[in-house]
Amino acid sequence: MDKIKIIGGNKLNGKIYISGAKNAALPLVCASLLTKEPVTLKNVPALSDITFLNSLLNYMGLKISEKEEIYGGHITKTYTYQADEIKELIAPYDFVRKMRASYYVLGPVLARFHHVEFSLPGGCAIGARPMDIHLSSLEQMGAAIEIKNGYVIADAPQGLKGSHIIFSKASVGATCNILMAAVLAEGVTKIENAAKEPEIENLIDLLSAMGAKIFGRGTSILTIEGVKELHGATHAVIADRIEAGSYAIAAAITKGKIELINANPEHLQQPLRTLEKMGVTVEEKENSIIIDAQNKTIFGEDIYTDYYPGFPTDLQAQYMALMTVAEGASLVTESIWENRFMHVPELCRMGANINIHGHASAIIRGVKKLSGAPVMATDLRASFALVLAGLVAEGETIINRVYHLDRGYEHLEEKLKAVGANIERIKEPD
Ligand code: EPZ
Repeated sequence: MDKIKIIGGNKLNGKIYISGAKNAALPLVCASLLTKEPVTLKNVPALSDITFLNSLLNYMGLKISEKEEIYGGHITKTYTYQADEIKELIAPYDFVRKMRASYYVLGPVLARFHHVEFSLPGGCAIGARPMDIHLSSLEQMGAAIEIKNGYVIADAPQGLKGSHIIFSKASVGATCNILMAAVLAEGVTKIENAAKEPEIENLIDLLSAMGAKIFGRGTSILTIEGVKELHGATHAVIADRIEAGSYAIAAAITKGKIELINANPEHLQQPLRTLEKMGVTVEEKENSIIIDAQNKTIFGEDIYTDYYPGFPTDLQAQYMALMTVAEGASLVTESIWENRFMHVPELCRMGANINIHGHASAIIRGVKKLSGAPVMATDLRASFALVLAGLVAEGETIINRVYHLDRGYEHLEEKLKAVGANIERIKEPD
């Protein structure tokens, strides 16, 4: 298994191009299941999660073609998906266990083909990750759901019916799935307490371009008037706000200056305000963000993760890495996932001073320096927090289990090397 070696201490300076968002691309790809016509997606990030999802769709019978194109001034991937001859209405365990977001096939396949079988993904490193909201909403829309041998088997022989659904939590995944189910349902569906993340707006824009009738974009109440069929469309994946936030911290932690090209500052308001409170200068431009921490003292600051537009849980670990070397103390409260402090023991092995209270709060007291160490993390964002710690630590840090990073950070070493990091991948056989 590959490793990443970092020698800390270099200030990072320059420009980093922000890729298409993983968490936007995954539901967009699955929306192609809703029509027999081709759906073309631009600015798709080259990530293993996309490769896993493509292999599932390929198994189900989708035709997928790929090309490289210039988008936003950079070479990116464009994929065309065509679901005109679906052979399998099943997402088997072997695919789902590799990639949880395979659950995005549930809504569109059930809506279009009236039957779907889907292996339940189970929990993961950051929490139990139930699917009760997805399933009960589909039941409300008339689906008969049975759980057998670890699979959800859902049937709606007469098609799905519009319904008034109130989510108990503003789940991102359930909002995407129920949106994709509702666009082909008969009648009107109203979702209350829907998630408002920018990735959902990106999905609504694609569905609308395919002929769906969706009202309330950007709000927590979405109304969908079902249509008989959707057509093909061409659409672009938005820039990855979590990748942008992660590299913003790389600038801050190394006291450097980085321009995040193609990042959308609108999508990062809470994290950017937090950085300013910590002493970093943030300049927002129309299509980029400049993070300047040169000669600045970084101070501790509290964060509380919440649904969008609150502070994103997917940036919690990275901000915590910055707090470990800030002046004074910081309090981190994680309100979305029940087990998202797996990076804490590893950061402590590098010299951080962090105390966890209960399962939701951690107090970080800033230390003068971290020291390099061999480390590993159990999820994507925790792994990036260790990269950040490695960038500022004295000496050598070896990050194991690089496959987590490959799921969500396109060209990680190349991007960091280009702004001055001493980082390399050590290739090792699996
Ligand atoms: C998405 O996960 C993201 N994944 C996660 O990013 C992100 O952390 C999360 O949203 C929150 O922003 C993708 O987009 C692929 P949820 P998702 O449903 O959709 C509870 C990363 O690092 N819940 O919004 O699975 C759940 O347990 C990943 O890129 C239920 O109780 O998250 C959690 O506490 C990690 N029942 C809360 O809702 C349900 O049926 C929010 O989960 C569904 C969710």
